Amino acid sequence: MNVLVVGGGGREHALVMKIHESSKVDKIYCAPGNGGISRYAECLSDIKATDIDGVVAAAKKISADLVVVAPDDPLVLGMVDALNKEGFATFGPDKAAAIIEGSKVFSKELMKKYNIPTASYEVFSSAVDAVNYLKEKNEYPAVVKADGLALGKGVIIAQNFEEAEDAVKSIMEDRIFGASGSKIVIEEFLTGPEVSVLCFTDGKTIKPMISSMDHKRALDGDQGLNTGGMGTIAPNPYYTEKIAQECMETIFRPTVEAMNMEGRTFKGCLYFGLMLTPKGPKVIEYNCRFGDPETQVVLPLLDTDIIDIMMAIYNENLDSVNVRWKNEAAACVVMASGGYPKKYETGKVIEGLDAKGQVSGAFVYHAGTKFEDDKFFTAGGRVLNVTATGKTLKEAIEQSYSCVKKIGFENSHCRSDIGARALAAEN
Ligand code: AMP
Ligand code: GLY
Repeated sequence: MNVLVVGGGGREHALVMKIHESSKVDKIYCAPGNGGISRYAECLSDIKATDIDGVVAAAKKISADLVVVAPDDPLVLGMVDALNKEGFATFGPDKAAAIIEGSKVFSKELMKKYNIPTASYEVFSSAVDAVNYLKEKNEYPAVVKADGLALGKGVIIAQNFEEAEDAVKSIMEDRIFGASGSKIVIEEFLTGPEVSVLCFTDGKTIKPMISSMDHKRALDGDQGLNTGGMGTIAPNPYYTEKIAQECMETIFRPTVEAMNMEGRTFKGCLYFGLMLTPKGPKVIEYNCRFGDPETQVVLPLLDTDIIDIMMAIYNENLDSVNVRWKNEAAACVVMASGGYPKKYETGKVIEGLDAKGQVSGAFVYHAGTKFEDDKFFTAGGRVLNVTATGKTLKEAIEQSYSCVKKIGFENSHCRSDIGARALAAEN
């Protein structure tokens, strides 16, 4: 098979390396890909991940047998619809289903209509109404969310009225997230451990993957600015067998069925961002795709050919595949450019990687690198996702950090406490 993967970060590198393990695959292409991906796939670097016409044309040119669309924006724009129309097999939801991530107003209304547990909320399309509501309600922290996609940054947790008013105005009037801010959701602040659960689904069968935990803040001890994710671990120790069953009954199955009822059958990877509140698990967010950097710890633990799973989802017979997991743990430490998520420099030489962009003992997924003159250079804020597996979480974390030490570039920054909370929770 010829497989085309759309995207160019650490998540796509993890997908490419898993697809590479399949005996069914002859050649992998990636649009646009990155330096690390280029060692495993032919990168179509001129094609942006959101370029629907470009991706369809590339799929024709390479006679793709499967196109995996990984990032949120091309899914929300309808890339899968365009590929299916030309007869290509795809992995990822169509436009109608991707709205579950593309519009927070849609997802909140879906949860309300079908009784799926989530934070209580109100929707506003006028800043004046939103500010009046905040004054009346007077409960803090308050959570203010832009309706549309905002690179994972569209959520503001306001500690007081001034911050909340400021959030409403910057989203709705200054449009800091662009058109995403024409509507906003103001919701109740929830507390409890967060869990990410990615599920394979063909709209009928649901196969949850191993649970994971993201670390969103830039600095140790969950301090500093929010980032795209500074590291992950799997499995998440807070997510017990009992909670998993409860989530299947009250959240996963009701969501997949609700999407069917709405005529928006979801096929692909449905990501549940959950908070385990004192009143039970609740949905914080849905994503219509693999999480980044959750995928980097989940896929190394998958023990079934991913192509079999993806083709079964496309053909709507996921029930026929036995999805198996290794009885191990994984940890991923993100090596970032100094300064990230604010201003940072790129173009630094990365030392310590072999010709494939790897180090022994870990999977080094490249998030932002370039390969030139037989060397790897930094090319983004998040640069490398150093992932190790182990018999225990402790082993995986230690192994991942020992591999991080083998790699160096000027001004590199990583958190030193990835998995620390999870380890404490285990005990
Ligand atoms: P999201 O982009 O929706 O995942 O939100 C980003 C982060 O904001 C989440 O991972 C949570 O830590 C936090 N968050 C979002 N909604 C809430 C809420 N209702 N209560 C508390 N924290 C929240
Ligand atoms: N790690 C969170 C996300 O992929 O949105």
